[in-house]
Amino acid sequence: MASIRSCASAILLALPTALGASAKLLVSHYNGNLYSLSLTTSGTTGQLAVKQSLKAGGTMPSWLTLDSDTGNLWVTDESTGGSPVLTQLSVGSDGTMKITGTSRSNGGEVHSAIYGGADGKGFIAAAEYDPSSISTWKLPITGNAQAVQKMTFTMNGRGPNASRQDKPHPHSVLPDPTGKFLLSPDLGADLIRIFSIDATSGKLTACTAAQAGPGDGPRHGAFWQPKPGSTDGTMLYVVNELGNSVTVWKVTYPSGGGCLSLTKTQAVSTYPAGKTPPNGCKAAEVHTWGNFVYAVNRNDKSFGSTSDSAASYSISPDTGAITFMEATNADTYYPRTFQINKAGDMVAFGGQTSSTVAIVARNTTTGRLGPMITSLLVGTAGVPGNEDGLSAVIWDE
Ligand SMILES: *[C@@H]1O[C@H](CO)[C@@H](O)[C@H](O)[C@H]1NC(C)=O
Ligand SMILES: *[C@@H]1O[C@H](CO)[C@@H](O)[C@H](O)[C@H]1NC(C)=O
Repeated sequence: MASIRSCASAILLALPTALGASAKLLVSHYNGNLYSLSLTTSGTTGQLAVKQSLKAGGTMPSWLTLDSDTGNLWVTDESTGGSPVLTQLSVGSDGTMKITGTSRSNGGEVHSAIYGGADGKGFIAAAEYDPSSISTWKLPITGNAQAVQKMTFTMNGRGPNASRQDKPHPHSVLPDPTGKFLLSPDLGADLIRIFSIDATSGKLTACTAAQAGPGDGPRHGAFWQPKPGSTDGTMLYVVNELGNSVTVWKVTYPSGGGCLSLTKTQAVSTYPAGKTPPNGCKAAEVHTWGNFVYAVNRNDKSFGSTSDSAASYSISPDTGAITFMEATNADTYYPRTFQINKAGDMVAFGGQTSSTVAIVARNTTTGRLGPMITSLLVGTAGVPGNEDGLSAVIWDE
């Protein structure tokens, strides 16, 4: 018996190599569902399939935050009417999701991050776009969880883009690499808000915010550190939705207590030199991997009527300065979300309006993207300009 079992497991172990590699992804959709996907690849070909769909995350699930160590997943709800919720799920090793907790939320949540506690996973913060606020909850979410804190921001009058900058619009939340500070790019206020974290209580205390350029509309950010385990040379790359640019910020840590501060060192378009951002386009998301930065553009149609572009930049390891490398096909329409896998050899783009996930190859040495490996329609496609379609895609690994 024992020999048959070990023989069988030897065959199972050998299978992935024979048939190619497999991976898992998770998707949220503004139709009120979450999806678990499987991906099999062999070289530059592959196949995506929906393994599970689950009604969860409120009426407008908008973003996914996964703790890959524990398989805990949190989903924010962008709806502002009805009964918006923050949902917690567990994701099994086969990618199956199960709801484990829900809490009432303020609604208008567009992004979240875990922070604080003994291990950086004691609390969750959510950026609330329409309510102009940031709220926090203690983890895990149980029965009738209450927010720990809600901070609402105000502005004296409108920003340069009067329609989009009518009031503060925190668009994302991200802990810094030390876990001692939480940052929040605010699209409405042209600020990068900075908070110090009390790890025990989860309480956030406002530091002096960094001032973005007028009309930049900062949306998301990604940190980069040249020396692992050291804060020396830490940089922050912020993608600006209204300015269609990436700004580079040098991060300064206080010597002995006090606040983190940011100094802007560079601003680079999300388009190749000489190309004016097309009307109605909006940069969306930014990530770093190694000495490279990537940002996506929505609705620029650079590669066809439903194919928007991704911008690649190289990072100077000495200075953190970025150089535009190229625009490549994100193989989706209205890419609101993307993530690079841990191995760094594939990128998952999530097209909101196309409601597609596109898996694109990434060269780990050169940082270059392409070709597309496979793509899949998930749920129903959206209508251009509407708040529908696919809202987020992440790797489950
Ligand atoms: C405001 O931003 C939107 C993009 O969301 C853009 O289409 C519009 O032209 C901008 N308006 C002004 C006055 O800059
Ligand atoms: C990555 O690019 C380098 C340089 O062009 C090339 O030699 C290598 O084969 C590429 N790797 C993959 C996996 O395509």
